[in-house]
Amino acid sequence: MWKGRFSQETDRKVQAFSQSLDLDWRLARWDIRGSLAHAEMLAKQDLISQEELEAIRSGFQEIMDEIERGDFIPDESLEDVHMNLEHRLTEKIGDAGARLHTGRSRNDQVGTTMRLYVKDVLCQVKSGMIDLMDALLNRAESHRETIVPGYTHLQQAQPVSMGHLWMAYFQSFSRDLKRLEFAMDEADECPLGCGALAGSTLPLDREYTAEALGFSRLCENSMDGVGQRDYIFDALSFSTMFAVHCSRMAEDLIIYSSAEFGWLKLPDAFCTGSSMMPQKKNPDVLELVRGRTGQMIGHLVDILATLKGLPMTYDRDLQEDKRGLFSSFDVLSHVLGVLPSLVRAIEVDADRAAESFADGLALATDVAEYLVTRGVPFREAHHRVGSLVGWCVREERSLFDLTLEDFEDFLGDVDENLLSLVDLEAAVARRDTLGGTGFRQVSRQIERGRDLLSRL
Ligand code: ARG
Repeated sequence: MWKGRFSQETDRKVQAFSQSLDLDWRLARWDIRGSLAHAEMLAKQDLISQEELEAIRSGFQEIMDEIERGDFIPDESLEDVHMNLEHRLTEKIGDAGARLHTGRSRNDQVGTTMRLYVKDVLCQVKSGMIDLMDALLNRAESHRETIVPGYTHLQQAQPVSMGHLWMAYFQSFSRDLKRLEFAMDEADECPLGCGALAGSTLPLDREYTAEALGFSRLCENSMDGVGQRDYIFDALSFSTMFAVHCSRMAEDLIIYSSAEFGWLKLPDAFCTGSSMMPQKKNPDVLELVRGRTGQMIGHLVDILATLKGLPMTYDRDLQEDKRGLFSSFDVLSHVLGVLPSLVRAIEVDADRAAESFADGLALATDVAEYLVTRGVPFREAHHRVGSLVGWCVREERSLFDLTLEDFEDFLGDVDENLLSLVDLEAAVARRDTLGGTGFRQVSRQIERGRDLLSRL
């Protein structure tokens, strides 16, 4: 395409090194959309004729059909998706195809194509996330009254409703939805008409193309428009945070389903076996969710490293923005393909969960707070219950089996009510502060969660 200036053929090795076809061929559909809007604008501005516009339209229609049939084999020597499509179009319709690139550079073209693509992918990711969050809401509803251990430092802390745990994941994903909306909005800016970097001497109507392509606004500065990749960073930043949240949840599900915890049962269809050990059931899907998140963190750092030393405006380094982004989007699409069904099929073994509370010590805070209601300062109550816990550990006694006299020996004056409080149900139900694990609070959260999803 640039032969006029050059007296040598491009070296083969240079072609192989600089081509981006292996990455950007997937953008063909979006690139054609951008080209069609550009052609319509050129016709409206009398820069091409109505007949030429029609030829471009029908040429691209045929090309789309070829792509869908798998008949279009792009040529690496044409460097990228943009040149391949334009070349094919010109082969088909001649002169009209050669007019398509009027007033346009691949620099504004690739930005337009990528932004259209990012918007569409994020839209799909959004529905996947809604599906995942819906799965969590349903689990939270079914497990609202199932009591499981809650941990800090991965040491047993206090009993919680399993519904509360599911809703904890839901909350992180609802923040990710806001990140997604932000990333979508950043992508929603049209660079078409920025040209190579400085705009055009031709009377292009940028507002027309931006609107025709469904962008809510256009890039205000042509140099920034072709040189910035903030929207890629924002898409990766959202994607990575979301993946980190999925990875943390995956880690929980792995731990809680191991024999040593054992109160979660992963569905067989989402686990794999061992080639050697017949008894094994491995949580590979969840491990891969965790593992691939690492790659996504790499892609996030990659875009920042790429951008940090780049001179204004377009530099070829920017072509590489696609590698990490596509890879991260592919991970998201796989993760969203499996996680909702996996979550829907997980079972909780409530008896096994109850067994893990055998020593009753997870209720020590409840006893201390009981003393507070009887006027004991909290620090003092903490100390007394601490001595009681120490004794239980030494004597191998469970808090559940203590008599009122046992309690009295360490706590001073107590009454019958204390015994009814040393109970898992009561411990959860009574944590009724806003946002706490009390059953009523979990219901409130579920309701608000449903409301959030219904408004999306
Ligand atoms: N394929 C390139 C990219 O993805 C677009 C080409 C712009 N190339 C150029 N030499 N100005 O960034």
